[in-house]
This record gives sequence, structure tokens and C-alpha cells, in this order.
Amino acid sequence: MLVQTITPNTTYEFAADVGKGLTKPGQKELLSKYLYDDVGSALFEVISHLPEYGLTRADERLLRRHGSDIVERLATPVSVAELGSGSGRKTRHILEALCRRQRTAYYPIEISPSALAMCERELRDIESISILGFEREYLDGLLEVAAQRRSGQHLLVLFLGSTIGNFDRPAGIRFLAEVRRILQPGDSLLLGTDLEKANVQLLRAYDDELGVTAAFNLNLLARVNRELDADFDLGQFAHVARINHQDRSVEMHLLSRCRQIVNIPAAELIIEFREGETIWTESSHKYSPEEVFSMARSAGFRCEAQWIDEQWPFAENLLMAE
Ligand SMILES: C[S@@+](CC[C@H](N)C(=O)[O-])C[C@H]1O[C@@H](n2cnc3c(N)ncnc32)[C@H](O)[C@@H]1O
Repeated sequence: MLVQTITPNTTYEFAADVGKGLTKPGQKELLSKYLYDDVGSALFEVISHLPEYGLTRADERLLRRHGSDIVERLATPVSVAELGSGSGRKTRHILEALCRRQRTAYYPIEISPSALAMCERELRDIESISILGFEREYLDGLLEVAAQRRSGQHLLVLFLGSTIGNFDRPAGIRFLAEVRRILQPGDSLLLGTDLEKANVQLLRAYDDELGVTAAFNLNLLARVNRELDADFDLGQFAHVARINHQDRSVEMHLLSRCRQIVNIPAAELIIEFREGETIWTESSHKYSPEEVFSMARSAGFRCEAQWIDEQWPFAENLLMAE
């Protein structure tokens, strides 16, 4: 796989975002995209195998079962761009179905270089595929992919694993509308959405018994230590998963076990934490199946088909740009 990379100023941007998030009045926060450095991407891969985290298996079951049907509904010839591909393991079902029909160019778009490398190792053996990875933010990468397309070539965008749920609901619709603006009529978006389910099931999914999700969350502080020379004492923070009933989401926080002061020299910051105060690191919004239709419409898509898993409420949605 060829990889196009731009990484100037990333430490500077990271320091600026950490500074902004930790000095926010009220709730302190760190952006969830920073969970995915090399360690975070490896830990997320482990999470996707945990018995408590049924989401990835549901997504994969739907793609395996309906991959051929999904591909048959697409206008061809078609290239595939994937937003936040991660390891790309599940994507094989779509790419293999497509490669049986045509040679296929696949463009994973990732901010995590190690996830991009995993993705190439995972998918390079598929016959009739070419892979060009973009180490970029979602929309920057998609703009570049769209700029390369030849006339008559359609685009299928994959946004799997319910990563859309990391946006709050209005931001999620704005994001889908941005994707739509980059696409042309006849293009499509395959969107994975985790559906509402019992709170106890959700809390277990985001706070597993082995503590892998806790390590994934705490690694964000370890990353700030590694990259910005900070002195977070990881033992003095605890992983917490909470249901936000109003937002219909699960939130991940890092809770300060005591009153403490942390130095972050590369961000020129000294931050005080009260005992019990939290840093909000991620939200995962959950949807109703009907809500996905209206989100799609608001963003300028038509929902062509929706498939729902029987074991773990999760919907795969094929949205058409009109
Ligand atoms: C929840 S994981 C999902 C991975 C995979 N799609 C799946 O379904 O298992 C989100 C992925 O998106 C990537 N990511 C997060 N924020 C991003 C951003 N702003 N731009 C590009 N990639 C991003 C992360 O590195 C991570 O691999």
C-alpha cells in the first residue's frame, strides 16, 4: 500500500487542543480522536474482540451476510473510501464482494498511522484490489480521494463501527452533510449505527471486566505524558463509563481520585484537579432505526436499505446521494 502522509505541526496542534480542553470552564475535556495513537489503536483492536463489546461483531455479521446485496445496489464502476478504517478487518466482506465484479481502488483514511498499517496487512491479499492510504482527518482525506476520481467513477464511502456516534446528534448530521457535499449523485455512504439497548449492556461494553477499555482511556493521559512531557500519575485517575440519558449516549471520563496538580510543559500548563473531578474523553451516541432515516434525509441522502442484527441491536444503512 502506498500511504500519503502529512504530519507537520501535529505536536503543536495536540498541545493546543490539550490546553484548550483542560482549561475549559466547567467540564474539562480531551478530544476522542487523540485516543488513537499506536497504543490506543492496538487497544481498540483488543476491545473489538471482547465478549462485552458486541458492536464490532454485529457490524461484521451484517457485512458478511449482506455484503453481496450491498454491492449489487451500487452504481459501478465504484471506488471505496473508508473514514477511520481502523484495522479494516470487517471491510474485507465488502471489498471481496466488489472485487469479484471489478478491479477496486480502496482508500482508507485514518489519523492513526499504525491503524493504516494494520489495515494494509489485513486486506492486501484480496485479489484485484489496490490500496492507497491517507493519513488524514476524515474530510481532508475524503476531499483528496474525491479530487482523484475519473469521470464516470462512483464513490462508496464507508463509515463503520458507529464512529458517527462520537459526534453529538447535531454535529453528526452536519458531518454527514459535509460528506454529502463532497459526493456526487449516484455515490453512496454505508453507515454503521449502534442502536439503543439496555443500560447494563451498554455500561459493560464501555467498562469491561478485564480493564481493556480502562487502559484505552487512561492511555490518553499516558500519551500526554509521552508526547507533551506531562506528569499525570495514572494511578490517581480512574476510568468511568456513564449513561447520559438526555443525550442517549455512553460517556467515558477519567476521574481524579484526589486533589492534584499536573504539569504539562509542552502546553505551558499547570492544571489543578479537584477530588472527583473528571475529564470527558468520549461519547458514543445510540440511535433508533427510524432516526437514522431522518438523519440521512437532513444531510441530503436517501436511505436505500437498512439491515439490523438480531443478536446485538446495530444497523447497517446504505445511504444514496441524490
Ligand atoms: C471507533 S474506531 C473504529 C474503527 C473501525 N472503523 C471499526 O469499525 O472497527 C475509530 C477509528 O477512526 C480513527 N479516527 C478517529 N478520529 C479521526 C479523525 N478525525 N480523522 C480520521 N480518522 C479518525 C481512529 O484512529 C480509529 O481507528
